[in-house]
This record gives sequence, structure tokens and C-alpha cells, in this order.
Amino acid sequence: MNSADEHGGGNGPDRRSTHWFGARGRSGMLYRSWMRNQGFSDEVFDGRPVIGIAVSGSELAPCNAHLSRIAESVKRGVWQAGGFPLEFPVMALGETVLRPTAMLYRNLLAMEAEELIRANPMDGVVLLSGCDKTTPGLLMAAASTDLPALMLTGGPMLNGKFRGEDIGSGTHVWKFEEEVRAGRMTEADCSFAESCMSRSNGHCMTMGTASTMACMAEALGMQPPYGSTWPAVDARRYAAAQRSGRRIVELVEHDVRPSFIMTREAFENAIRINAALGGSTNAVIHLLAIAGRLGVELSLDDFDELARDVPTLLDLMPSGRFLMEDFCYAGGLPAVVAELGGLLHGDAPTVAGEPLEAAARTAECHDREVIRPIDAPLQPAGTGTAVLRGNLAPSGAVVKQSAASPHLLVHRGRARVFESPEEYYAVADDPELDVDADTVLVLRNCGPAGYPGMPEVSNVALPSKLLNEGVGDMVRICDGRMSGTAYGTVVLHTAPEAAVGGPLALVRDGDEISLDVPARTLSLHVDDDELERRRAAWTPPRPHSERGWVRLYCERVLQADQGADLDFLVGSSGHEVPRESH
Ligand code: FES
Ligand code: MG
Repeated sequence: MNSADEHGGGNGPDRRSTHWFGARGRSGMLYRSWMRNQGFSDEVFDGRPVIGIAVSGSELAPCNAHLSRIAESVKRGVWQAGGFPLEFPVMALGETVLRPTAMLYRNLLAMEAEELIRANPMDGVVLLSGCDKTTPGLLMAAASTDLPALMLTGGPMLNGKFRGEDIGSGTHVWKFEEEVRAGRMTEADCSFAESCMSRSNGHCMTMGTASTMACMAEALGMQPPYGSTWPAVDARRYAAAQRSGRRIVELVEHDVRPSFIMTREAFENAIRINAALGGSTNAVIHLLAIAGRLGVELSLDDFDELARDVPTLLDLMPSGRFLMEDFCYAGGLPAVVAELGGLLHGDAPTVAGEPLEAAARTAECHDREVIRPIDAPLQPAGTGTAVLRGNLAPSGAVVKQSAASPHLLVHRGRARVFESPEEYYAVADDPELDVDADTVLVLRNCGPAGYPGMPEVSNVALPSKLLNEGVGDMVRICDGRMSGTAYGTVVLHTAPEAAVGGPLALVRDGDEISLDVPARTLSLHVDDDELERRRAAWTPPRPHSERGWVRLYCERVLQADQGADLDFLVGSSGHEVPRESH
């Protein structure tokens, strides 16, 4: 049992919720009476722990649409343990439907959830998430309030099944798009595949960003063991939800807070586990943002250094063959933790009340094709996400080696520059397009402030001309992100981004660029004087908006290497009870 009692007591009369429901006189009546209109009996106000259940679901966020059903199971557990559960909605961010990108709203979700947790009578909170941005957004909120919290993700969809073949969300969209463009698949078959791909509740079942972040929540110790892998429709997820309801009440009793769980050691575990999973590059940005809320020192270089001695063990799409359902049946995350053994801080505390290694001790691997042994890995150590630097990326850029083509990892070629994805796609099918297999496609103005929101547009489909020649991959460099379900030799998160005057803004058609992943460099072969002349002539793009969230976001967003949080949201404001409202 880990205890965080050194953080100070959270029990009895000091409970936050008693400032509301235990209040005397007029204000107590205001706090209780309106709650009673939901039919609660007297004892809910007797000083028991009040547990908020943050539900980031809606019908517009399909990956999270079932979360209110999971909340019902959490409530059972909270009642069982003598707590008082209260479900509340937080921003539901649907990755596939939100424009210009769900990432534009991750920080807004984090800010909303943080404020709701602090402003309401709760002593602890269960965070229900699923789709890509909802997991990091809620962890950021939990970090900044530092109230006892436990996360349960909504689980992946069942494996996609198309004509006898397993197909993965996202990954097969890109594959099928290429098949259709190359004339090997009909539009009708492609549209039939839509329903074959998404056939149950849940988030993407590839090792895309949602699965990655669910695993990161478990690796950080914020999600109970196996919570990341049970399919969304698996009854065990609902049983886990009930247990989580009981468990959050204990976390409140012992005042176990996110800052006790999410330490530097926990982040080191998460980074190494992500390398073993072959997880999404988006984890880099999200983990940096979460760490920033906790004051944990974490830098882009930690991701490269910590991952260098970790082989890829998991054979999941987009880089591999299998899907989350297979990962679940093969043994889930504890089986990977067991395999990594001494590479991890096994004694790191978790919300389960036992250290990370406890679940791993009893974990069994049932499928060595899906989870490889560490001495016969899928990919050798050092082939995970690499951090590049150079005069084209002074603050860094990343490339997912496992999603890249080995022959392009050391490459020199001439730049063909596009100011936007729209500009590129307008000519991508032109048979006369001036590109060849060695061309380096530069796509800019896709960073946090540039698009805005840093969308997943970096892995632009190859020009038809090259596809027709049988070219399967080419080097692309962008200041945006790439879907965790995508693949290709794509240099991402180039910082500083073009829109704030980063060197990417200065590249011109025909410039030579070299990528050397083993040496971790990204270089623009243009001399400094010429770059200075170009910089002097550069003018910043017009603001995206004069008002509202977009203006605030663009003015205050940090670069990718700092997690793309808003500068004034870094850090914590705690969970002190605010002043009276009446
Ligand atoms: Fe929601 Fe992939 S789109 S998890
Ligand atoms: Mg995604």
C-alpha cells in the first residue's frame, strides 16, 4: 500500500466537500437543497467523500460516446465504498470530426476540467477519457489541481474485420486511400470498409495516439493495471470501473494525489514503455505538457536518451501486424512491464495502491507474436522515436523510426516547399509535378500557432506521379504532427515552427536538406548569411483570429518541444476551496 500521508491529511472535517455540503445556515441550504432535487437521501451529505466523475464523451466524440455507461459502473463502486459519486461532463474532443484539429482544444479541455474540479464540491475525481486528446487533457487538469484522481480510459474498439483480414483504425484509411488512388481498390469497396473498421464502441484499436495515451496513463500509474487494453465492450472494463469507484474513495482517504504518482520516475517509465510499445509520436508532446503541469523536469532529449536502450516489443499497427484486442489477449501492458524488468522503476507508485511491478509479477504473456520477448524483440533498441536537431530544427524535431523506411533514414535531397497542405494537394496528382523519389517535401505553417492547433497533416500522401512509379515513401518535413496510426519517413514537430519565424520558414525550392537519423541531425545546406537575408525579408503570417479562444491560443501557445501547452497554464493552482458564492 503506498501512502501519501506526508502530503497532509485529506480526511474528515478537512474534506473539501464539507465546505459545501457540511455548511450551516443559508449557504449550506443553497448547496444541499438543489442537489436534493435529484432524489438523493440525507446520508449523502454526512461528510462522506464526494467523487466527481469527469465524462469527456458525447455523440460528437464517437470514441468516447459510451463513457457515461462506464460512469454508471464507477458510481456503483463509489457507493459501495461509502462515497457520493457525481458525474459531470467535460469537453468531448472527437479526433476525427473536429476542425481544424482536436489538438486546438486539448488545452481548453484541460483548463475547463481543471476549473470544474476546483470550483465544485469534490474530494477526488475519476477521469473517463478515450479519444486522443481527452486522455492528456484530463491528466493535465488532474496535475494542475492535484486532487486525488484516477483515470480509466474507455478502451479500444474491437478489431476491424474486412474480408477475412484484420484492419486497423486510421492505419487502413491511409492504406486504402493509396490503394484507391493507385487503382487497386474501388471506391465502393473502400466505403464498405468503413463499417468493417469501426464495429463497436471504443477508441482506435491501432497503437495510435488514443491507445498510446491510454497505455501512458497506465505506465504513469494513473490508470489501474490492464485498464488500457480491455476492449471498450469487454465486461472486465466495467468491473474495473466498479473497482475504480471503490479505489478512488481509498485514494481520497489516504490523500494520494497525482503529484505523488506522476513523478520524474513515472515519466521515465512512461517514455521507456512507449518505446517498447512503438507508440505514437504524439505522446512526446502530451507527456511534456503533463510534466509541465507538475513541475517535473522533462525535456525532448529525455525521450531520445531514455528510449535508446529499449527495443520495440509490441507488434501492433501502424508499424506492426496486430491490434489492441490482440494485445489485450496476449497479456496487456503488465506483460510488457514484466518484459522490461530492470529498465523500469518498478517501485513507482500507482493508483492501484501497489507499485508498477506488482501487476507485472503475476502477468503472463499468452502470445509471443504480439508481445515479443526482450531478447528477441520486434525492433532492436534505439529504433524508436528519435529527436533531431540542426539548423533546420534548433529546438528539435522528431521522427518515428519504426514508421519510416530504413533506406531514407540517411538521406540528402532537394526541397520542394509547400506553404500549406491545401497548396500541396492542389498539385499532388499533377503528372508534371517537379518531384522525384529523392525530393524532400517541406510542408510548413502546420505548427501550434501556424494552422492553428498543430494538426495531423504532416504525412501527406505521396504525389501520384511517384506512386505510379512504385515509390512507396519519401522524406517529408513538417512543423505539424502525424496521426499515431500513420506511417512514413516524416520529420515532425519541427521547432520553432514556421509561423513564428523558425528556420523552416526560410527554406526555398531547390535548397539541399539532409536527414541523418543515426546522427540525429536535420540540416539545411544554405549558408548563414543567406539565411539571415531571408530572415530579414520574412514577414509573419496574419493572425488567424481577432477574438476568442483561437486568438488566446495563438498568442500564448508554447512550441512542440515544450508540450504545446499555453504558457500561463504551465504549473499548478492546487485545489484550495474557493470563496463563497452567495
Ligand atoms: Fe478517437 Fe482515434 S479517432 S481514438
Ligand atoms: Mg489520432
